[in-house]
Amino acid sequence: MVVSTEKRDVIALIWIDNPPVNALSTAVRTGVIDALSGFESDSAIKAVVIACRGRTFIAGADITEFARGPEPAQRTGPDLQQVMEDYDKPIVAALHGTTLGGGFELALACDYRIAAPGTRVGLSEVKLGLLPGGGGTQRLPRLIGVKPALDAMLSGEPFSTEAALAVGAIDAIADGDVVEAAVRVARDHLGSERRRVSALTIDPASISASMFDAARAEAAKKFRNQHAPQRIIDCAEAAATLPFVEGRKVERENFIACRNDPQSQALQHVFFAERLAARVPGLRADAHFDPVESAAVIGAGTMGGGIAMCFANAGIPVILLDADRAGLDRGMAVIRRNYEISASRGKITAEQVDQRMALIKPSLEHSDLSTADIIVEAVFEDMAIKRDIFTTLDRVAKPDAILASNTSRLSINAMAEATERPQQVIGTHFFSPANVMRLCEVVRGSRTDPAVLARTLAVVRRIGKVGVVSADSDGFIGNRMLGPATQQANLMLLEGATPDQIDSAIREFGSAMGPFQVSDLAGLDIGYRSRRNYPPETIDWRAYAVSDKLVEAGRLGQKSGKGFYDYEGRNALPSHEVQDAIVAATAEYRIARRAFTPSEIVERYMLTLVNTGCDVLDEGVAYRASDIDIVYLTGYGHAAYHGGPMFWAEQIVGLPRALELIRTYSAATGEKWLRPSPLLERLVAAGKGFADFDVNPELFRHGS
Ligand code: 3HC
Repeated sequence: MVVSTEKRDVIALIWIDNPPVNALSTAVRTGVIDALSGFESDSAIKAVVIACRGRTFIAGADITEFARGPEPAQRTGPDLQQVMEDYDKPIVAALHGTTLGGGFELALACDYRIAAPGTRVGLSEVKLGLLPGGGGTQRLPRLIGVKPALDAMLSGEPFSTEAALAVGAIDAIADGDVVEAAVRVARDHLGSERRRVSALTIDPASISASMFDAARAEAAKKFRNQHAPQRIIDCAEAAATLPFVEGRKVERENFIACRNDPQSQALQHVFFAERLAARVPGLRADAHFDPVESAAVIGAGTMGGGIAMCFANAGIPVILLDADRAGLDRGMAVIRRNYEISASRGKITAEQVDQRMALIKPSLEHSDLSTADIIVEAVFEDMAIKRDIFTTLDRVAKPDAILASNTSRLSINAMAEATERPQQVIGTHFFSPANVMRLCEVVRGSRTDPAVLARTLAVVRRIGKVGVVSADSDGFIGNRMLGPATQQANLMLLEGATPDQIDSAIREFGSAMGPFQVSDLAGLDIGYRSRRNYPPETIDWRAYAVSDKLVEAGRLGQKSGKGFYDYEGRNALPSHEVQDAIVAATAEYRIARRAFTPSEIVERYMLTLVNTGCDVLDEGVAYRASDIDIVYLTGYGHAAYHGGPMFWAEQIVGLPRALELIRTYSAATGEKWLRPSPLLERLVAAGKGFADFDVNPELFRHGS
């Protein structure tokens, strides 16, 4: 029974029990409507308390139902809202846990909201590309004021219990059991008039004519290309200017528009994809292992320092080891500066700066590593150096320590072979800046013990990262896919596009940066050197003709003040020198130049990424297409409202069309350099999608 009832003399309790988070499903709505209706006609009952069993009050509408199709004709959210609005006995909500979205809206339709200490309440719908569709856009502005409500709905961030009480979003914090406290409040108001939030009026002095336009302009910048924030502002304006019933109509129309919007479907995909990534075939969810209590990082450079900060931020003591005193001092100074910048921006307190610094112990001695539960090496990408480090770690680390490498593309198996305990060796590939980016590719070597994988995933989660498992294969998931896409971006230069046109198109599509900005930031010399480590016949030199010319002319990217762009401070300006190099390369390879549209640029870049993503799946490097999406969203700055490259290709472009386009790029580039992925061809021929292929442990060659 997801909804049950209890009577405590004149008070009726409605209990919701729908684990794990008491989502407001059709069954819950039906149960609550029936229970309320039953108590309405029961003259012995004078007031009602709604409470939840388990870890939280209702954490929102059941979003798994959204994916299953249209709303039922009856027992809808609006039906429940109407029953609560028309009710003639006081209703008290007893809140605990994460009272979010439709859960908080149900509480707002009650007369009193009593919360257990530690409860968080909020309207988080925007994070799923939705808006509060259960009266929240109309009630919260009436209850706490238009501006605070708008801010809360646009950020989607919940209020702490104390903040909620301070703004008036809840009425009291329970002293003791929250249900008992709610029952007491109900007793105090037996027979009272309803205290409807819908009846509150908004002080006209708290709003101004320009307020909503200003909010729209700000949201257009802050939530670029996103539809839900603009619709939330429309609803808040309706709350401020229309009677409640009319405002509800505006909210309903906008909610349905959001629900049907591909952006919302994409964001819901991301919500579930992130949780799915934590599920690793072959790993038992209840497997026992000791949590990581101490860490060490080798290499005090940018990455090593950032990784050490991640451990310290999570309260895990960490040794930062470097071979060189000056490098170590520099690394520690950079970490302190980063924390001080965070403190100056109010993100952490001065006390936290000291606490975190105290958790990071600099060291020059390998013997100091003997107590660490996890050791992450983050030194220069050189296999010989890394193998030496792993041999040393084998000597000094305690027997069950996780021995991890932060390599971005070198073989974990080759490092594991340098030890007598390859089962303890794993990859933890952090993304720059490591203390900011959420992704950590967790690379499973062919001999990595599943228990080591599980323990690594647990510590990755504890330090606030999203772990996505990859097999040990060149470039893992993310960087492997980036190569061919970068090649296409470079070829488009020779075919007539400019770096700025390509970067702008990719940025406008929603990515944080375009491919040439990324190259300039990373340094063009890195790719230049790395290309020369591969057999020459494996490189499409046409594609890198411009980049190589720029390096040879000393244009190394941002660090030398010029690369694909000229830099004036942080301003990137188009460069004549670069344009000349492009035109010269075009002539050298006798390529005809033409104009490109932004959508053509986006499709060619993104679909090449997806084509390699299909290979990554087919080869068993990633478990599922949605894991690849998470890699690109959390490690490469792609926009979550597209759902990631694989979701976008399947749901927006369509796999048949994607294949057709990839075939045309392949013809233009040459089959040797870009061939349509056999997996994509098989899926399209069979009329299937990625879900038909996902999590095929047979294909995961490095499975447990
Ligand atoms: N619907 C369905 N399932 C949900 C859910 C929801 N709203 N929220 C969480 N779940 C599921 C998760 O998928 C997960 O399932 P799994 O165990 O099978 O993977 C399980 O509940 C536990 O979730 P988490 O792993 O995320 O647990 P945490 O304790 O870390 O976080 C949480 C709990 C804070 C509630 C987090 O899950 C969350 O933020 N959920 C989404 C809340 C939300 O956005 N609510 C608004 C929904 S839209 C809405 O209400 C529309 C209305 O206005 C009409």
